[in-house]
Order: sequence, then C-alpha cells, then structure tokens
Amino acid sequence: MCGIVGYIGKEEALPILLEGIKNLEYRGYDSAGFAIVGDDKKVSSEKAVGKVAALFEKISGRSFPGKLGIIHSRWATHGGVTELNAHPHSDCAGKIWVAHNGIIENYKELKKELLGKGHKFKSETDTETIPHLIEEEIKTLSFQEAVRSALKKIRGTYGLVIVNSDEPHTLIAARNFSPLLIGLGDGEYIVASDAAAVLKYTKNVVYLDDGEMAVMTPSSHKVFDLDMNHREKETHVIDWSPELAQKGGYANFMLKEIFEGPEAVENSVRGRLIAKEGLVKLGGLSDSLPLLRDAKRILISGCGTAYYAGRVGEYMLEEYGGIPVEVDVASEFRYRKPVFREGDIFLAISQSGETADTLAALREAKEKGVPVMGIVNAIGSTIARYTDAGVYQHIGPEIGVASTKAFVSQVSILALLTILIGRQREMSLVTGRRIAEELKKIPDMIRRVLKQNDEIAELARKYQKFNNFLYLGRKYNLPVAYEGALKLKEISYIHAEGCGAGEMKHGPIAMIDENFPSVFIAPQDSVYEKMISNIEEVKARRGPVIAIATEGDEKIGEIADDVIFIPKTLEMLTPILSVIPLQLFAYHFGVLKGLDVDKPRNLAKSVTVE
Ligand code: AGP
Ligand code: GLU
Repeated sequence: MCGIVGYIGKEEALPILLEGIKNLEYRGYDSAGFAIVGDDKKVSSEKAVGKVAALFEKISGRSFPGKLGIIHSRWATHGGVTELNAHPHSDCAGKIWVAHNGIIENYKELKKELLGKGHKFKSETDTETIPHLIEEEIKTLSFQEAVRSALKKIRGTYGLVIVNSDEPHTLIAARNFSPLLIGLGDGEYIVASDAAAVLKYTKNVVYLDDGEMAVMTPSSHKVFDLDMNHREKETHVIDWSPELAQKGGYANFMLKEIFEGPEAVENSVRGRLIAKEGLVKLGGLSDSLPLLRDAKRILISGCGTAYYAGRVGEYMLEEYGGIPVEVDVASEFRYRKPVFREGDIFLAISQSGETADTLAALREAKEKGVPVMGIVNAIGSTIARYTDAGVYQHIGPEIGVASTKAFVSQVSILALLTILIGRQREMSLVTGRRIAEELKKIPDMIRRVLKQNDEIAELARKYQKFNNFLYLGRKYNLPVAYEGALKLKEISYIHAEGCGAGEMKHGPIAMIDENFPSVFIAPQDSVYEKMISNIEEVKARRGPVIAIATEGDEKIGEIADDVIFIPKTLEMLTPILSVIPLQLFAYHFGVLKGLDVDKPRNLAKSVTVE
C-alpha cells in the first residue's frame, strides 16, 4: 500500500502532486519522492526518507517547473527504507519514470535478464525493473506500446503512473490488483490511489480495473486492456467533500472518526430499515434475496477490526438469523483448505476494500463457485467490484489507521443483514421490529457514551503506568475484547490481549497481579453473572479492574476499580456501544504517550500487499 498521484494538464504539476500526496500519506509513509517533466523535456526529481514533510523540507525554496509529473509515498515491501529505494524509479537514461504500488513477483528474473542486457540498477526494489523493462521495449515500440508490452511480462500486483521525458504530453497509468483512479478535470487529469487526492480538483472519477491501462494527454484519455481492447468506463461521482476528508476541527483523524460513530451508524442504516414491518431493504442485495433465503451457511472473512466485526455478526446471524456461520481471518482462510458446500455464501468485510488477504480469500471462494458478497466502505474499491453483491457502509473516508467508525458501521450492517435473513426464516415481525427500532436509537446512545470522553481520558491517565492489559468479554462482547486490545496495541504500542472471560482460568489468570489491569466488558446481558464472577476472581488476585457496564448497574461498582457506563440496549447491539469507551481509552493512552495516533509506526491504513 502506498500513495500515488500523477498529474497532466495546464497547471504546474508539483503543487498539485504535493497537495495530493499529503492527503494520501496515511496509505504509506516511510519515504516519498516525485519526478516532474518540464516542457524542455528535462526531468527534475527529489526524494526523501520519512514522512512527506521531509520531502517538503528538502525542496523548500527550489523550483521544479513542468505540467506533467508523478509522486509517491512508499510503504516498503522490497528493499529497505532508503532514499535510493524511494520512488519514482527511472531507466538508465533517466527518461522513463515510474511510481508503483504493489509487488512485482517475478522481478528477480526480470532484473537478471535486464542486467544481462547492460541495464544499471540503482535500488534494491522490485519496482525498478519496470522503467528498465520499458526502456528495453521502447527501442522498437512507441511509448504506450512499450508500456503495454512490459506489463505483459510482469507477474504481480501494481498501480502505476509512468512518464517519459521524450513524451512530455503523455501520462500513462495502469492497474493490476492495486487501487487506481483517474480524476477527470477540465483540461487536466489527476491519477491517484484514492479519491482523497483528487477531491479538491474534481468529484468525477473513473476507476481502473485489473489489467487495464490508461493513456492521458491534457485534452484526452483512453482506457484499454493489455490486448489493446478499448474499455468504456463509468464515471463515478464521489459524494465526499474535501472537507470531509480533512480533520474537521478535531485534533486528529482518529478522534474525529470516533466521534463520527453516531453518524456512521446513521449513514449505514439510512433508508434501509422498514421498522414497522420489522424488515430491511438492502439495495445491493436485492437481486440476491432468493440466494439468501436458500442459504445454508455464511462464511465471513476479513482482517483485523473487520474480522472482529464479523465475529460479532456470527453471534447475531446464528442467534437471530437462524443460519450457521463460520468466521475466519482472511490470511488463514485462503491457505487452509476450506470445504465449500451447496448453499454457502461468502461474505467479505473490508473498510478499504483493498486488503490483499481479504481479496485473496474472496477470490478463493469465488473461484470455487461460491456466491460472494461484501460489506465495504470504499466505493468502487476492488473488493466492492469483485463481489456479486454487497452493502456499502457510506461512512465517508476513514483516514486514521486505526479502524473505529468502520467497526460500528460494519456491526450495524450485520444487524441489518440479521433482520433481512432472520425474517426470511423464523424471526417474527415483533422481533424484527424490536431490533429495527432499537437500531434507530443506537446513534444517540453512542452520543451518550461519547459524553464520557473526559472521564475516559482521565482513566487513560490513571492507567498510564501499566504496560500490560487483559481485555475480557463473553458472547457478543468477546470480539469487542479482541478489538479493544487491538486498539490499545496499535495506538500505544503496549501489550494488550483479548481473552474469553471463561478462558481466563485456563491460563491467562496466571499473569494477573497488581501490575496487570483487566478490562471487563460486562453489560447486563445473558452472561452478566458469569462476568461478575470473573471480575471477583481477578480482584482476589489484586488485579486492577476497569469495567464497561450498563447504566444503572450499582453492583459492578462495588467490585470494579473503575466503571464506564453504556446505555441499556439489546444484547446483540451492545458491541456497537461497548467498543466506544475502548476506542477512546486507546486514543487517550496514545496521546498521553505523545504518539502519532493517526499514523502508528509500522502500520498502514490499507494493507494491499500480502
Ligand atoms: C484496525 O484498526 C487496523 N487498521 C487493521 O486491523 C484493519 O482493520 C485491517 O487491516 C482490515 O482493513 P480493511 O477493513 O480495510 O480491510
Ligand atoms: N514493492 C514496491 C517497493 O517496495 C512498492 C511498495 C509500495 O506499494 O509502496 O518499493
């Protein structure tokens, strides 16, 4: 995953490229670089290790004239984080420059062949084989033909922008499994990894599909496949304002997106509930209703937070949907030998819609003839376009690397899916209506939890001194325990683990003492009494306890050291509320440690490499 922007048009390229790459920095940020082609056919380039700010600093006061250029923020896969390995990479003559997102799987054999032909490489990356390959091909072919021929020799994944100083009025883009879109401007084009980089200039975009390339001049563009078959492309209008993708007055994206939780649920549910009939309308699944009605099992897969949302969905769909469910982390699903059966439906959950492991699991199911569906946020993303049917989350961009509003959105959509499937089976109108009516109240309930932000900040301060946490839950809140632990790990870099409260006595309780706090998610639900006993077991070993409890519960405060209350709601919907204090706790913990909560070290927002 990295950020890519290419520009061709009537304006100076560099300011547009720099603005664009800053908006994409969350996609990859270990190094950055650009190449600008001047009207004089001269190329000027600069690269820097570190965040995009390092590149800005390096070029301040210098000029890089030209109306054609490419820029890249890297998340290294091949070759260390060095200036030499930063993109764009060029051919020997310094004429052909390439910025790349993805992995060239056969780069070693390509490089060996090119070295044998006398090409000189500067970097350790897989990417650098591309400009040299084009340089070889362009000896006998036109620029676009040379690119096409080179791409046919490549195995692997790519999102590419390519310039050639001998062709200062042409920008080429190509895509194979890594996201790339073209922003359609007036006499200009902006190619980018995602919409955040183009929204300031245009809302009209074209998504490239796998195996396609686009050739742009300031006044025209055409898209075709690698066999030169012209591809008609639909123009999508991105309904996100540029401001939406900015911080909106919050200190950072993560806090903004936690506070967007209520709107996220509202937007995910909007227009989809027919509460009085206890029914649900999911446009993206309308053609799949017979399939859902006859389904005998749902296989859910995702990564990280999306996977934990799927785990909540498992409880919902089994208890209220009346259908067997299996949930797998995508990176496992694709490598075990899943046994598919007649009546299976595969459901991928992914905020970005670009997670390589989730996409691969999806492909595995699709290739075996299983109907595949998705719950995805990014419109037009690869996973969204690869599924037969699906449900968009409609929550706007999630920029912070930690997934927060996406989780509450995904669980809400799984509740919708539960009603839809349940009402095709044994779920009564009354039950459907009760869930639907309660779901409508959830956004305001989240707002009530968010009002405790200051208390939760205080709690994070109080527990700052600890370096280990155990998060415990049961049933619907077991996935929330895992999710809460993940948030703390990825935002504050300290050790936290999720654990079934019933499992504690089978080992983890050995870790408990006064230096090892436990976070119990213990709303008043069907397993509440069990949770109270588990809290007492921890207290008996002097373990500090933070409890997430139901408003009005006076008992839990007598045994837990600290309590954060959430409103009472249906057991199946409590995860949407119980996760909020855990998101805020992790957020404040990270801020108090002085860490960059939007861009935690070693992580990227969308893991588009395996
Ligand atoms: C969660 O906070 C992490 N950012 C990560 O686990 C993330 O949920 C995972 O990579 C899946 O991303 P996706 O939803 O975009 O597929
Ligand atoms: N594989 C390329 C490299 O390691 C591209 C990585 C990326 O997508 O940023 O440079």
